[in-house]
Amino acid sequence: MAPMPISEVKGNPRENRTAAHSHIKGLGLRPDGRAEGSTSGFVGQTAAREACGVVVDLIRAKKMSGRAVLLAGGPGTGKTALAMAVSQELGTKVPFCPIVGSEIYSTEVKKTEALMENFRRAIGLRVRETKEVYEGEVTELTPEEAENPLGGYGRTISHLLITLKAAKGTKKLRLDPSIYEAIQKERVRIGDVIYIEANTGAVKRVGRSDAYSTEFDLEAEEYVPIPKGDVHKKKEIVQDVTLHDLDIANARPQGGQDIMSMMGQLMKPKKTEITEKLRLEINKVVNKYIDQGVAELVPGVLFIDEVHMLDLESFTYLNRALESPISPIVILASNRSSAPIRYSSTSLSNGEASLPASPHGLPPDLLARLLIIPTHPYNSQEIDQIVRIRARTENLTLSEDAFAKVGELGVSVSLRYALQLLSPANVLAKVSGREAGKVERVDVEEAEGLFWDAGRSASALTTGKGWIV
Ligand SMILES: Nc1ncnc2c1ncn2[C@@H]1O[C@H](COP(=O)(O)OP(=O)(O)O)[C@@H](O)[C@H]1O
Ligand SMILES: [Mg+2]
Repeated sequence: MAPMPISEVKGNPRENRTAAHSHIKGLGLRPDGRAEGSTSGFVGQTAAREACGVVVDLIRAKKMSGRAVLLAGGPGTGKTALAMAVSQELGTKVPFCPIVGSEIYSTEVKKTEALMENFRRAIGLRVRETKEVYEGEVTELTPEEAENPLGGYGRTISHLLITLKAAKGTKKLRLDPSIYEAIQKERVRIGDVIYIEANTGAVKRVGRSDAYSTEFDLEAEEYVPIPKGDVHKKKEIVQDVTLHDLDIANARPQGGQDIMSMMGQLMKPKKTEITEKLRLEINKVVNKYIDQGVAELVPGVLFIDEVHMLDLESFTYLNRALESPISPIVILASNRSSAPIRYSSTSLSNGEASLPASPHGLPPDLLARLLIIPTHPYNSQEIDQIVRIRARTENLTLSEDAFAKVGELGVSVSLRYALQLLSPANVLAKVSGREAGKVERVDVEEAEGLFWDAGRSASALTTGKGWIV
């Protein structure tokens, strides 16, 4: 197998799904494990938060293998928020992979394959490598042109001259044209601090030299000091990737073995075949790295919402995956107290699609592995507090009267509905030209009139009083 490319991956498309929880910064527990009022953005739900704290301790003590957590409670009681908080408590670079039970049904990919993929998205690998690099602030960047050796009128780049400045001196390098492409892709310009890996030629832009920090810049730039020491040196580089990143990077090794072309592939992941054999190969390399002390595994959190949507085949698979030595922490969530266990209809000769009802729609052998944590509905004060925290995170200003109205909706309809009305109400306030963009009660009422909750919408349909007669 070719050397495993390891590169940083940015912009996980799954992250945006967690934006509704951006105010949650952790479980907000005191050192003695008790839930405090509303720190870390979490309000109430104290028993569940404390239980999740115990789970975090169990994970740290490596006592969760073969087990999983089930958060059971009605919609909008903070199940997703709790799962996210658990992953936050485990550390900042710990992967969090949220999926919905129904997501595994696809005509292109097998169910178990889809589950496996998500398991591997939730397992991180932290790689520490000492690399020989050239690092410094770019003070000169000159491509040298030459006649096109193939004839014609075009000219090609024959070399790139680059001068790097570090604290203890400067160095002029003459680089291969392939590195020039890498430099262009990273948009390196004079005044940037970069490093070039000596043996692969991979280029990484660290940031803009802080000598330029007075420059007027529209973009938010990260300013970094001029690197210490010499330009040519050994440097420890820490990178966080998930096993799934390694799978895709290695499933499509065409287009060169250098890190930059791998990086390009990781940016736009396509559905490609990742075979069982490839995964085993990767596990072997990963294990070797771990044995050598180069890498460590960072088990993250796989969150499966609406878990009753899985079927028997997937549950069996889940049982097996939980036993694997490299398994993430699995947190399930369900808002069904009891549901029939799904059974893929193709595998039942009599065409039945489900087995008799069972608690949370889960089979007994999986139930036996679970630590079940219930979540409870919020009271009106808690709802009010959550709405205020959310308004602050979304940078909205509401009058006291508007807060009261949103709070009422939170109680009479649902917390989710109330929170969802905040942004439309803000848009309406802006449209009405309200001073300083303050949201008033009328804006919330107007939003309520425009966007219906499920109960109102359904009853309008059945009674014929709504827009359908
Ligand atoms: N105790 C809480 N404190 C602060 N915000 C909360 C709390 N519970 C829920 N939320 C927020 O309310 C919304 C709905 O909660 P969510 O976790 O999606 O519920 P569930 O997953 O149980 O349906 C989310 O924006 C969530 O961040
Ligand atoms: Mg949820």
